[in-house]
Amino acid sequence: MAQAVGALARGELVILPTETVYGLAANAADASAVARIFEAKGRPSFNPLIAHVASLEAARTLAHLNGPASALAEAFWPGPLTLVARIDNASAVCDLARAGLDTVAIRVPAHPLAREVLEAFGGAVAAPSANRSGRPSPTTFQDAIEETGDACAAALDGGPCAVGVESTVVSVLDGTVRLLRPGGVTREAIEALVGPLQDTGDADAHRSPGRLALHYAPDTPVRLNATAPREGEAYLAFAEVLDGANIFNLSPTGDLREAAANLFAHLRAADRTQAIAIAVAPIPDHGLGEAINDRLRRAAGFVG
Ligand code: TXA
Ligand code: MG
Repeated sequence: MAQAVGALARGELVILPTETVYGLAANAADASAVARIFEAKGRPSFNPLIAHVASLEAARTLAHLNGPASALAEAFWPGPLTLVARIDNASAVCDLARAGLDTVAIRVPAHPLAREVLEAFGGAVAAPSANRSGRPSPTTFQDAIEETGDACAAALDGGPCAVGVESTVVSVLDGTVRLLRPGGVTREAIEALVGPLQDTGDADAHRSPGRLALHYAPDTPVRLNATAPREGEAYLAFAEVLDGANIFNLSPTGDLREAAANLFAHLRAADRTQAIAIAVAPIPDHGLGEAINDRLRRAAGFVG
């Protein structure tokens, strides 16, 4: 723990567990530390990163949170929700971390180790998922180490991630609340609080530049909405009990929360088989299913 906090303070990278996925963390105020993140991930362009802080009070020192933003923060922080708001304190989250935007994405994670690090460090911590660019996000310590461990001065093992998909990204910029990325907090839970969400048009894809095609992609081709595997395919099953070689059950009982938690680890496991393709069972599109299907479409190479 002390080693991780020290590494952040020195401008080095840290593998940081969160409840969603493992992050590759750096001091958000330090542009050269943030540059190391892009280098380690091999990101082709400078997508803006999420600034992680310890509390709502800390978030308020970065950006003004309007009415809906405050309501969402109070309801879902700490937890898998990221709010995009106009930046107030531009030096606390450097230009590079924001990719030059005048907005900042903020999240208060719930994982106890992440909270401990953020409290001890004091400042904002930029942390994208710890995978190399274009690969599935790591949801176990071992997967995180395998992806970007070499670039890190410290790494914390927080066990398997309970949520398993990234945070929901919501923009709260101009009196409207927009869904930029479905994730660990469901659309239904957000809409119950602030009313119907505006969907993202093309313009918003630019405001959330990380939302490009072919994210989260395993090396093996992915075939969606498959009711059964074909000869030579691995299969991600849902809501049924199937046995056999290269069958991975997202949730035998059809529990979307369990499926989200298993998603990336099962994609990786299926990718390690010699299968000609990874077939994936249909997943209902409500609740956490929206985030799961978003990640699956990206894994299959479709623009979402
Ligand atoms: O669960 C998570 O959110 C994980 C853990 C580690 O916290 N982090 C994560 O970070 O998924 P990353 O960098 O992989 O995704 C950040 C997303 C991208 O889609 C990015 O475009 C969007 O947030 N984003 C960041 N800053 C933004 C901004 N100022 N405006 C719009 N979108 C922004
Ligand atoms: Mg990512």
